[in-house]
Order: sequence, then structure tokens, then C-alpha cells
Amino acid sequence: MYELTVVLPTYNEAGNLPALVHRIERLGLNSEIIVVDDGSKDGTAEVARALMNEYGNIKLIEREGKQGIDTAVRDAAAVASADYIAVMDSDLQHPPEMLPVMLREARSGKDIVVASRYVTGSANRMGLMRRLVSRAATSAVHFLVPQAKNIRDPLSGFFLFYRKAVSLEEATHGSYKILLEIIARNRVSAVEVPFSFGERYSGKSKLGLTEMIRFASLTFRLSDYRAAKFITVGLVGIAINEGILFMLEPHAPLLLASAVAVEASIVSNFIMNNTWTFRRKAKVGFFRGLVKYNFVTIVGGIINILILGMLVFAHFEYLAANFIGTLFGFAANYLGSEGIVWHVRLPN
Ligand code: GDD
Ligand code: MN
Repeated sequence: MYELTVVLPTYNEAGNLPALVHRIERLGLNSEIIVVDDGSKDGTAEVARALMNEYGNIKLIEREGKQGIDTAVRDAAAVASADYIAVMDSDLQHPPEMLPVMLREARSGKDIVVASRYVTGSANRMGLMRRLVSRAATSAVHFLVPQAKNIRDPLSGFFLFYRKAVSLEEATHGSYKILLEIIARNRVSAVEVPFSFGERYSGKSKLGLTEMIRFASLTFRLSDYRAAKFITVGLVGIAINEGILFMLEPHAPLLLASAVAVEASIVSNFIMNNTWTFRRKAKVGFFRGLVKYNFVTIVGGIINILILGMLVFAHFEYLAANFIGTLFGFAANYLGSEGIVWHVRLPN
């Protein structure tokens, strides 16, 4: 019985696997290694078999065609014999010397230990472009998937988890971002430890357009498409606002008519968001929720106006300034709705 299973997904990593395996074996952990190879054409599987002859604790899963890291981890976990499972790149970007540190954290009771690129003490050898893309993707994830908010690097590919705390059944999309999926779908305790993200030793990254599209679709799926629904509700709200103003204007002073129209659209937006956008979350009580929603809407409106004012002051054209203000107001509304009105924090 092993304490730790190290999962190494490989796709054309023949030039990296031996060095990595030797370094893992040298740690002297009570561990096994499971290599999941997706039909590499550079002989990675043969290299793995040679390593199996050298060490008695290596398994090889061979699959046909590139099927993604998430399913690789799922398939490895199904045959893993240890309680703790570590996942890492096979290209030496993730130093295996971190494993004992991560294992120690896990033993002390954390369900997930993330080797993080973004906490104090981390070092990062990513190029400027990759760094920007990675930061933008991480921010988008934090915005859209609130369960990931308290993890600074939810897109890390280097992590260790307690097998029994995590369900991997949903990991079927062929995505790279299995950690994100685990955090979003399971109620787990997590901790991040800093590490130094190195350069790929040999070969090149397999992260291409397909992987990026899969990542985007995974993120939207995990967010339950709430942002898109929220925007749709907002557009319907504008139509309601205009419609009611049109009906009332002949019979009432303009500002009064407008106030009624605005409040009517706030109420209808609240109802639509409560029954549609956030329906997967426990619905909030009608009046309590409506009061909070009004508050959030007012704050969003104020932010919109403030940004508009600041940008006009900085000589922006007023419609462009207002458009940017609207975006910020929308973001504030959305985050406020999620955090204050509907309390979206828990796994889907
Ligand atoms: N079995 C299998 N199947 N392995 C794969 C597949 C696949 O479809 N795609 C990639 N791999 C293996 C690679 O051979 C490598 O060992 C590891 O998975 C990560 O792939 P890389 O190509 O090295 O990814 P990266 O370095 O660009 O991205 C890394 O950093 C990201 C954070 O910026 C990965 O760790 C990502 O998971 C991480 O999100
Ligand atoms: Mn890599």
C-alpha cells in the first residue's frame, strides 16, 4: 500500500520522463507513479516501460489519441492505490522536490494542496505574453467561478489531493484545468504553497487553441452561464424600463414616470435573476432579496456615474465614457448580486 500516487500525464515527453522519474524516486517517498500516455509518437510509452523494469512502483496507462489531462487524472485515480494523489507536468516545469512539502500539508488535514505560481515566495519563469494570458485567464476565472476565489492560482497544473474528498466523475471534457474543476465541484479545504515554475526541459507545450477553447467552455459551464444570463436579464430590463416610461409619460411628470419605470425594471430583473440566473442557488426570500438587490443596483448605478464623470473629466467622449461606466456598473452589479444577494460561494 502506497501513501502517494503521482500521476504523470504524457504526450510526447520521452525526453523528459526519465529525468523526472529518477528525481521522484530519489525523494524516498512511499509512492507509486502512474504514467498516462495518450499515444505519443516519440516513444514515450517505450521509455515508460523501460523505467518500469528499473523501478517496481510504476504503472502505465496507454490510451489512444490525445484526450486531455483531466481524463488522464480521472483514469489514473481509478487505479491508484494511495489515499493521496499528486498531479504534475512531465516536462520538469514542476519540481518534484515539492512533493514532500505538499504531502506534509495534506497529512495535516487539507483536502487539496496547490503548488501556486501566485503566492508570496513563488517564482515564475513564464515569458511576458504567457504571464499576461495566464493572469487574464485567472482573473476571468475568479470573476466567473466564485468557488475558486480564495485560490490565487486555480489554473495551476501542479497539485495534490486527498482522494476521498474529491469526485472526478465530471472530468470528461478533455480539459487541462482539472484543478479548477475539482475546486468548483467539491466542497474542499485547500492551501497553496509557493514553488518555482521552471522552463520546460525538452519538447514543447501542448497548450494550443483547442485547449484554450476547452478551458473557456469549462469556465462558462462551471459558472452555470450566470454572467450571460445576467446580461440578458439586464437587456430585458432596459426594454421594460423604456416600455413603462412610454406608457406613463403622457400621464405623469417625466421624472416620476422614470422613477416608476426604473423600479419596475429592478423588480422584474430581480424576479428573473432569482428564478433563472441564480436558480441553482437557494432562492432568496422575496422582500429581503429585493431590498438587497435594490441596494446593489444603486451602488452599480453610482459606480457607472462616477466613472462616466471621471472619464469625461479626462476628456473622453461622453458616450464612450458612459459605455465604459456601464461595464463597470455591470461588473459591480454582477459581483454584488452574486456575493450579497444570492451568496454564490458553494460548489454547483
Ligand atoms: N496524457 C495526456 N493527454 N497528457 C497530456 C495531454 C493529453 O491530452 N496534453 C498535455 N499532456 C501532458 C504534457 O505532456 C505535460 O506533461 C503536461 O500534460 C502539461 O502539458 P504542457 O504542454 O507542459 O502544458 P503547459 O506547460 O503549457 O501548461 C502547464 O501550465 C499551466 C498553467 O499555466 C500545465 O501544467 C497546465 O495544467 C497548467 O494549467
Ligand atoms: Mn508544461
